Amino acid sequence: MNDLSSIRVLVTGGAGFIPSHLVDLLVARGARVTVLDDLSAGTRENLARVAGAIEFVEGSVADRDLVDRVVAGQEWVFNFAANADVPRSVKHPDTDFTSNALGAHHVFDACRRHGVGRVVQASTAAVYGEPRYTPMDEEHPLRPISPYGASKLGAEALGFAYHHTYGLPFTALRIFNTYGPRQPRYVIYDLFRKLERDRRRLEVLGTGEQVRDYCYVADTATAFLAVAGDEGTIGEVYNIAGGQPVSIRELVALILETLGLADTEPYYTGQSWPGDISRLVADVTRLRARGFAPTVDLREGLRRFAEWIDIAPGEGAR
Ligand SMILES: NC(=O)c1ccc[n+]([C@@H]2O[C@H](COP(=O)([O-])OP(=O)(O)OC[C@H]3O[C@@H](n4cnc5c(N)ncnc54)[C@H](O)[C@@H]3O)[C@@H](O)[C@H]2O)c1
Repeated sequence: MNDLSSIRVLVTGGAGFIPSHLVDLLVARGARVTVLDDLSAGTRENLARVAGAIEFVEGSVADRDLVDRVVAGQEWVFNFAANADVPRSVKHPDTDFTSNALGAHHVFDACRRHGVGRVVQASTAAVYGEPRYTPMDEEHPLRPISPYGASKLGAEALGFAYHHTYGLPFTALRIFNTYGPRQPRYVIYDLFRKLERDRRRLEVLGTGEQVRDYCYVADTATAFLAVAGDEGTIGEVYNIAGGQPVSIRELVALILETLGLADTEPYYTGQSWPGDISRLVADVTRLRARGFAPTVDLREGLRRFAEWIDIAPGEGAR
């Protein structure tokens, strides 16, 4: 779907990490984009390159009247607004239910009343909870173990209920681990920051045997765009992941290679922590069947991440 020049699109949470990349894609294709974000985690800087081309509304999806005003007249709506920080969700579960679940209800309900043509929800692998088997397909049981996962499952369930009850043209994408420029937290970011401080020794939490399924952020954003433009995805849920699982040990080796750090010694603490999942791997057959395939492999994605985070490669250990 290349030309979106006639389409009005709302991206809630659009100042955040993943959604700001989707905003970039939408603007590049000529869409008329509105972003609604309360800036609780996202930043104006994430939208700096497109600031002149979009409408930015500072506010919360928890504000029903505001959501109603912003949704009116939109043709597509992507709902990303959420607390996406799992440790924060454990400390402040209220925020999750207000932003992630009640906020989603406000968005979907306004979409239904205003006859929005496409509604796409950013869901998460956290709705599955502990893996019963891997790779996890979309039929895996839904037993979230965090307030975050529960609130996101609530949002997804509302979307499908509104699809069945009111015909809301709804699709959900369950994101596994997405990484890339503008991501200010989690494993890859933490490892790069640690290496900035000390290039001789790298402390890695856990055993290094945990397996993750990383997807580069521009690929995740492209999947959202593709799904919105594909009416055959209405009423469906899809996993989105890179489809090339790696262990944390392999990830560490790739990061060190990216930075040209041949002499750094990784040190594994060996200790796990509550909620640490040993294998988080997606079955992406369903999304692939719609024609989606990631284009940026982990090596190239890490190179781009290094460029963004501005740790000069090739300096060697110091
Ligand atoms: N990063 C991942 O790997 C990942 C994995 C699974 C799911 N997701 C989902 O993708 C979406 C984006 O995640 P991200 O990693 O880019 O996080 P992010 O925190 O960078 O983006 C979320 C955005 O929503 C905004 N926001 C939060 N509460 C809001 C509210 N009440 N009203 C309006 N805006 C609000 C934040 O300011 C932020 O800009 C989230 O819905 C998250 O649940 C992300």
